[in-house]
Amino acid sequence: MNTSETNFTDMPNCSNKGFPPQVNPSAPMPNITHCDTQAVGNEKTDGDAQTTGKPEATEQQPLLQLKQVSIFYDNNAAVRKTSFPIPKHKITAIIGPSGCGKSTLLRAINRMNDFIPNVRLTGKILYNNQDLYSKNVDPVAVRRRIGMVFQKPNPFPKSIYKNIAWGPGINGYQGSMPELVEQSLKQAALWNEVKNRLHDSALSLSGGQQQRLCIARTLAMQPDILLMDEPCSALDPISTAHIEDLLFKLKSNYTIVIVTHSMQQAARISDYTAFMETGHLIEYGDTDQVFTLPKQKRTEEYVTGRFG
Ligand SMILES: Nc1ncnc2c1ncn2[C@@H]1O[C@H](COP(=O)(O)OP(=O)(O)OP(=O)(O)O)[C@@H](O)[C@H]1O
Ligand SMILES: [Mg+2]
Repeated sequence: MNTSETNFTDMPNCSNKGFPPQVNPSAPMPNITHCDTQAVGNEKTDGDAQTTGKPEATEQQPLLQLKQVSIFYDNNAAVRKTSFPIPKHKITAIIGPSGCGKSTLLRAINRMNDFIPNVRLTGKILYNNQDLYSKNVDPVAVRRRIGMVFQKPNPFPKSIYKNIAWGPGINGYQGSMPELVEQSLKQAALWNEVKNRLHDSALSLSGGQQQRLCIARTLAMQPDILLMDEPCSALDPISTAHIEDLLFKLKSNYTIVIVTHSMQQAARISDYTAFMETGHLIEYGDTDQVFTLPKQKRTEEYVTGRFG
């Protein structure tokens, strides 16, 4: 694993000039390899299909595929031989008791674990059939395409506007920044609440608003996939409902993977569910099936609240 990057932030740190001016989720997938960093995120490039000869995800072929993924902290396995698909423009929930490896697995998907010393991954995580851990893949480009929202809202101590504009700005965004800020805040269902106070501190927002700001900030980077680690755990039921409505709308343009401890939330919003226990994938399937007709006894016990 690449542990040379010690500059941990939730914003990719890069100087790519090809940052796209408009959201176009149906555009061909950009490349994520070192040799093509200028092309990352630029819809006008040839895209992955042409540059690698590999097809883009289709209905038949998931956008992401975990193949026999094991993740170790030193010699301790936190995730063991886990395989499941993550279909495009769907919400996939990862559930399971505390310590079962959900966050570890989620962070592996955008190479965030690279920042943790002594982490080792075996197996493959395929994104449009390209192994995210192959040597020629640029982890910074991966994080730009696969954004992450954390459990605790973590806005920068800057204005609402600057929170959104900062990432695209350092990436050389060439379009209209006010338009991008407005569009991102609208996508995150926050615009109406903040449009008259864009230059107020982001820290003056409520917790639920801060979390939507963090979602807007991630969307401003125009990712392909949104990873969310318990994004509602610090929120009240109304803010949670806001975020859930938002996710439901976003999935027409984004692929979402969410870790949640709320069975109701997983059942309400996700299309597919992966249930993990002590690092193992116990069951994966359609959310309706996992919650109403689980194949494994452990799953049934967990989703009905009889253990964990
Ligand atoms: N940086 C780390 N170094 C060593 N071990 C770690 C590290 N992070 C997590 N672990 C261990 O890996 C295992 C999985 O942790 P992880 O945080 O992925 O679980 P989780 O399912 O997300 O739990 P929770 O629901 O409590 O957030 C746990 O045993 C944890 O102690
Ligand atoms: Mg966790």
